[in-house]
Amino acid sequence: MNGTILILNGPNLNLLGRRQPHIYGRETLQDVETQCRAVAKDLGFEIDFRQSNAEFQIIDSIHEYRVSAAGIIINPGAFTHTSVAILDALNTCEVPVIECHISNVHKREAFRHHSYVSLAATCVLAGFGTHGYSLAVRHVAHLAKQGKVTQ
Ligand code: DQA
Repeated sequence: MNGTILILNGPNLNLLGRRQPHIYGRETLQDVETQCRAVAKDLGFEIDFRQSNAEFQIIDSIHEYRVSAAGIIINPGAFTHTSVAILDALNTCEVPVIECHISNVHKREAFRHHSYVSLAATCVLAGFGTHGYSLAVRHVAHLAKQGKVTQ
């Protein structure tokens, strides 16, 4: 086993599949987790998959994994555009951080164009739908193979 990838989901993503399906699609967060686990298993990684509507819980999860994870994939939801505290937490990470948005935030309202989280992200995915999570898992594995354990 090559390590654990933390996948963190922020507010309202528990409603994925039912929430604005014309924007976020019909797949549920459980579907996303199942897909990520399958991809990760093939690549020899474990997944810790979490969702929280509370900023402090997201920060606590980042602290828990900031050194030990193979990588952190985070869809911070609306906290992307508001949270200096999540940015500060991600800036403590010694592992790759992949910011992942289901929708293409740049094609949406102006307030979604700015991300605090991007300032700490190794790379950013937006607009790949829920498939973006699997791509992010593959990229963590790719970075690990290259021996890039830090940002
Ligand atoms: C989102 C985009 C955010 O602007 C929004 O607040 C979300 C989901 C996405 O995955 O496209 O909750 O992060």
